[in-house]
Amino acid sequence: MEDEKIEDIEIRLLLEALYRRYHYDFRNYAQASIKRRLRQARDRQGVATYSALQDKLLHDPAAAAGVLRFLTVQVSDFFRDPTYFKAIREKVVPHLKTYPSLKVWIAGCSAGEELHSLAILFREEGLEDRTLFYATDINQDALEAASRGIYPLDRMKAFTENYRLSGGKASLSDYYSTGYGGAVFDKSLRERVVLSDHSLVTDAVFSEMQLISCRNVMIYFDRDLQDRAVGLFRDSLGRGGFLGLGSKETLRFSEHVDAFSEFVREEKIYQRRKA
Ligand SMILES: C[S@@+](CC[C@H](N)C(=O)[O-])C[C@H]1O[C@@H](n2cnc3c(N)ncnc32)[C@H](O)[C@@H]1O
Repeated sequence: MEDEKIEDIEIRLLLEALYRRYHYDFRNYAQASIKRRLRQARDRQGVATYSALQDKLLHDPAAAAGVLRFLTVQVSDFFRDPTYFKAIREKVVPHLKTYPSLKVWIAGCSAGEELHSLAILFREEGLEDRTLFYATDINQDALEAASRGIYPLDRMKAFTENYRLSGGKASLSDYYSTGYGGAVFDKSLRERVVLSDHSLVTDAVFSEMQLISCRNVMIYFDRDLQDRAVGLFRDSLGRGGFLGLGSKETLRFSEHVDAFSEFVREEKIYQRRKA
C-alpha cells in the first residue's frame, strides 16, 4: 500500500518533468493506461524506479523520446471499423459534395492508416481535388511513417477486407505497389496532405474544417481533457461541419454536447449545429 503511494507520487512528478522539459503533457491522461505504459518504459530503460526514469529523461532527450513511444498507443488499421467509413461514404459525402472546397482534419492520425483510407475514399467519391487534409499527431515517428506511406505486406489481407466492407469501389491493391519490403501507397494520395505535430492537449484550433475525424484518441484522456479536445473540435468546425468519433467514443458526457446534433448515431458521427 505504502509502496503504491510512493509510485503514484513518482509518476506524477515524472509526468510533470516530461511536460516542463519537453512540453509533452500526459498529466491528464487516463491513469490506468499511463501507469501500465510507464511500467513498460521503465523496464525497457533498465531502471528500478520512476524517479530514476525521471532523472534519465530530464537529462537525455533520446530517453525521453523512448518514453514517449511507450506513452502513445499506435494501433491502427486501414478502414478500421469499416462501418464508420461506410457511413462517411454514404451519409456524410453527399453533404460534402455541396462544398466547392473542403478541409478535413484527422486528429491523432498515427502512422497514416486513417489518412490514406480517407484519401482513397475521397478519390473514389470525386472529392479529392477540392480537399485539403490536415493529419496531426504528437508522435514524430508516426508522422514520418505517415509521410512515407509504406505498410507491412502481411497486413494487406485484413486491410483489403476492411476496404471491401467499407464500400470500396475498386481494389485496394490499385493504390499500392510492392517495394521497400512493404506495400508502398501511391504518393499522389498524399499530395493534398499537410502532416503536422499538434497536440489536442496543449495546442490551438484549426479553422473552418468541414470534417474532423478523431478516433481512438480520446479514450486515453480523462474527462477534463476530453472536454478540451471536443472544445477544440467545436471551434475548428465550420457550421454544419461533421465530427466523427467512431463507435468507442461519445459526446454524451461532454460539456459541449449542445453544440452538436447526432448525425449517424451508431458511428458517433455528429454535426456542428448551424445556430
Ligand atoms: C490508437 S491511435 C489511433 C489512430 C487512428 N486514429 C485510428 O483510429 O486507428 C492513437 C493516436 O493518438 C495519438 N495521440 C495521443 N495523444 C495525443 C494528443 N494529445 N494529441 C494528438 N494525438 C495524440 C497517438 O500518438 C496515436 O498515434
